[in-house]
Amino acid sequence: MRQLSQDFFRTPYAFYAELRAEGPVHAIELSSGVRAWLVVDLDAAREALRDPSIRKDPHTEASRRARGLPTGDTGVGAVNARLSYHLLNTDPPEHARLRRLVTPAFAPARIEALAPRVLAIADELLDRMAADGGRVDLLSEYAFPLPITVICELLGVPVADRAEFREWSRIIVEPSTATEEEMRQATAAIADYFERLIARRRAEGLGEDLVSDLIAAKADGDRLTDDELTSMVFLILVAGHETTVNLIGNTVLTLLSDPARYRALHGNPEDVPALIEEMLRYDGPVNVATLRYTTAPITLGDIEIPADELVLVALGSANHDERRFNAAADFDPRRPASGHLAFGHGIHYCLGAGLARLEARIAITRLVERCPDLRLAADGGELRWRESILIRGLHDLPVELAGAPALR
Ligand code: HEM
Repeated sequence: MRQLSQDFFRTPYAFYAELRAEGPVHAIELSSGVRAWLVVDLDAAREALRDPSIRKDPHTEASRRARGLPTGDTGVGAVNARLSYHLLNTDPPEHARLRRLVTPAFAPARIEALAPRVLAIADELLDRMAADGGRVDLLSEYAFPLPITVICELLGVPVADRAEFREWSRIIVEPSTATEEEMRQATAAIADYFERLIARRRAEGLGEDLVSDLIAAKADGDRLTDDELTSMVFLILVAGHETTVNLIGNTVLTLLSDPARYRALHGNPEDVPALIEEMLRYDGPVNVATLRYTTAPITLGDIEIPADELVLVALGSANHDERRFNAAADFDPRRPASGHLAFGHGIHYCLGAGLARLEARIAITRLVERCPDLRLAADGGELRWRESILIRGLHDLPVELAGAPALR
């Protein structure tokens, strides 16, 4: 049985190409020693994400068996159980109930209305970078604070608390770098924090923020329970912390790896949306979808998978499937990139896709406009990739400003 090597985190695509050449689905051994089935081609990935017998709820016996956890455990591992009642841990019909309650908070008009504020945040960060000058880490100075500020403002979380969130959220998404105890502490701290925030909103009156909207959300007399509320806010926070940052970071890396490509964008902001779409396909921030398990024996691709086994859908591999994308290993913003799975597929399709696209579009447009001479300050081999199966992103991205950013 194959294992994921250290090289996998640096460059997963060569490994994926090898697997796709052999077949659509492969047994792999996770670092926990548990077997999982890695789905690597586009058709099988779509099928797996749509199959109602492949489920996500971690609180069931079948999930515990699939993860090799003792029965009687909460099933959510070291994650605080109070944070575990969210969309990505829910199956039909419960999932549709939750999704109906939270979807209005992400309505397209509401997201589009954030554009002026996102632009202002991007410019504030670029002003600060200009003041620092010289060599900076683009992730910590720009790609990270931009979506975090947006998500904190959207949720109504004081910006002063965000350094703590960064640490908690990093531990949760990159469990291999933390002990179980650190994981328990981080998730308990987040659960306590949001319970206090929700209690404060209820006591002091609801506002314009997303937490208030979720407290007030009602459909056919139905509401979110307290655990569902805390869990949903947690999911939005983690999704908002760990994804868009890497879409911006991976895009800047790809552009600067070919400086002519970066310069060609200057004065051509209308090219940015197609570029972001191709970037999502080419090196998107979610490498492998979140954990799923079979509840009955199934045939996926041409492979038989027994019941109670883990299924990992490699979105990054599906997006490089040559049968759908010609010369899939090449970055080509002129290609029609639609049909990629960077935001998932089926009922769990990303709720924040519109927000992520908006943030990335504004972030890249403003960066290119104000820093036309930006250069990479490290070569590819020096860059460190995060060791997470889920997230595809760098630890840091050193760049040289080469002249102060242009004034607004
Ligand atoms: C470029 C940025 C992003 C990418 C690539 C991304 C990707 C994904 C993917 C692949 C899924 C499905 C996972 C699965 O089926 O296992 C997902 C679900 C989700 N995402 Fe995103 N995401 C991004 C940004 C965001 C943001 C900014 C938010 C919220 C503020 C968000 C909220 C969610 C939620 C709530 C779900 C669960 C939906 C459900 O289960 O019904 N995402 N995302």
